Amino acid sequence: MATQRPRRIFLTGFSGSGKSAVAALVAAALGWRVLDTDDTIEERSGRSIPDIFARDGEARFRELETEALREAARQVGVVVATGGGIVQSAGNRRLMADGGFVVCLEGQPEVLWRRLRDAGGSATERPLLSGPDSLGRIRALKARRQPFYALADYTIHTDNLEPPQVAEEVLGAWRRLSARAARDPDRLSGEPASADASEGTCWVNAESARYPVYVEWGALARLGERLRGAGLSGAAHVISDDHVWHHYGEAALASLRQAGFEADSYVVPAGEASKSLTTASLLYEWLASRRAERGHAVVALGGGMVGDLAGFAAATYLRGLPLVHVPTSLLAMVDASIGGKVAVNLSEAKNLVGAFYQPRMVVADVSALTTLPARELTSGWAEVAKHALIMDPDLLSTLEARVADLRRLEPEVTTAVVRRNVELKAQVVSEDERETTGRRTILNYGHTVAHGLEAASEYETLLHGEAVAIGMAAAAAIGQEMGVTPAALVERQAAVLASFGLLQEAPGIDPERALAALALDKKVSGRAVRWVLLEDVGRPVLRDDVPAALVRQAVRLVCGAAGMREGHSG
Ligand SMILES: NC(=O)c1ccc[n+]([C@@H]2O[C@H](COP(=O)([O-])OP(=O)(O)OC[C@H]3O[C@@H](n4cnc5c(N)ncnc54)[C@H](O)[C@@H]3O)[C@@H](O)[C@H]2O)c1
Repeated sequence: MATQRPRRIFLTGFSGSGKSAVAALVAAALGWRVLDTDDTIEERSGRSIPDIFARDGEARFRELETEALREAARQVGVVVATGGGIVQSAGNRRLMADGGFVVCLEGQPEVLWRRLRDAGGSATERPLLSGPDSLGRIRALKARRQPFYALADYTIHTDNLEPPQVAEEVLGAWRRLSARAARDPDRLSGEPASADASEGTCWVNAESARYPVYVEWGALARLGERLRGAGLSGAAHVISDDHVWHHYGEAALASLRQAGFEADSYVVPAGEASKSLTTASLLYEWLASRRAERGHAVVALGGGMVGDLAGFAAATYLRGLPLVHVPTSLLAMVDASIGGKVAVNLSEAKNLVGAFYQPRMVVADVSALTTLPARELTSGWAEVAKHALIMDPDLLSTLEARVADLRRLEPEVTTAVVRRNVELKAQVVSEDERETTGRRTILNYGHTVAHGLEAASEYETLLHGEAVAIGMAAAAAIGQEMGVTPAALVERQAAVLASFGLLQEAPGIDPERALAALALDKKVSGRAVRWVLLEDVGRPVLRDDVPAALVRQAVRLVCGAAGMREGHSG
């Protein structure tokens, strides 16, 4: 016997997605009634929602919201417009799914923001729009709720639709799909894989380990608490460099001690020279003198150098101590601390001795960027731009729109952007932990030429991110010449890199030396160099058929030796 269509429809989605307008239209078409959980709360309590939030807190509001939903779920022949955060509770999702059909109305943050703004209303009525950076806050909040919005029977992207068209879609989906969906009342009750109850947490789901990355402004104060939460206890051995230690050493120790850890520290001189086997031996001796045991944590407090070095020591001492990364540079936050690569340098080459060793957790205190030297910060933005270009058009738009705020480290947008970058890197690493499927290779966008430039300058002239920005310019030029990368994208990339203060030429570097280093790379790997080129934002392609002459021209171009077009046609 065929199951009947449920006679309740719930509309979920962020504010501004059009739930109320669409609910009214759908209800009219079916001859049903319309309900709005926010209206029910205000009617029953006799107070406005902002007032409930302000005086009783969010927890109380959520209780009232569940009561309103329960009341709606007892009705028959209703279309219910729900509050934007209602989906976060599994209990609420079950109330909706049991005998109801759940449709999520989606929209891009910019569109939602525009709709909310155009709808007018005072700042108290529209708290999402009050205060600075309303769009940034909408983006961040929506991103956090996104895994829960995905738990719906049907999703409609409303960006280019008017409410009557959305209503038509809701009705169509209800007619086609609701009878089947309604057979399982628990279908939306599971927890989404990528969500975590704690704000600001991303997860890395690598094959060998699953671990949280806490990205918060001020996260250092909760370091000890986080370690405890992960089941660590006893001693915590903090490794840092002298620059970072000066700013954050005491705060890290205090937080660990307050949480009951026996915390001690080893501080190495700042700079790449410390990332050596010699320093690693000193760390082993220190760990031995501290009687470090299997369960004791090693805490890497610093930039990528400290992360790699301390990570290497943690991976090898006693065949592995639990490792906690506390990245303090932008590069370390968005790149080096995520993914489990640890290494030290040999005089022959960088990162020659190392391992894949995933940390127990990463605690990124975004506020630490306020003391990072300006040049290091600028260099870090190159990796951020790279992530946006290869994976996330929305992030690229944010970088373009918010460059001034990001460069002055406005807390909210900077935290949101760092978090998004962590998510992106985590996603790739989760799919291809050990670089076996090729997925992780996309992260090498701009890196082929960058490595050549770094080697040619003996790692002295350019910071890594600076070399990557120049390498991206070279890759874009190659892509354009090969008909892969549209000219408009080449320009867009150049503009965004320039807006973050990144140069795209390295006139002081000898192109022949850079080319020799590239050729050496190729010889060492025994394979053709695999170039990452961009077809569009978010659409990288791997190519191993880039003609040597084109590489030569691109490298000469970024070394200020010859123009691409000039070289190609000549
Ligand atoms: N493991 C990986 O996946 C991976 C990826 C990329 C890079 N790396 C490695 O990372 C290293 C580069 O990382 P990096 O750019 O962070 O360099 P870094 O660790 O040397 O830090 C750069 C400088 O900034 C200082 N610093 C860092 N944070 C600070 C803060 N909050 N306030 C004040 N000063 C601060 C450091 O003391 C140092 O002088 C290289 O060794 C590279 O090989 C590793």
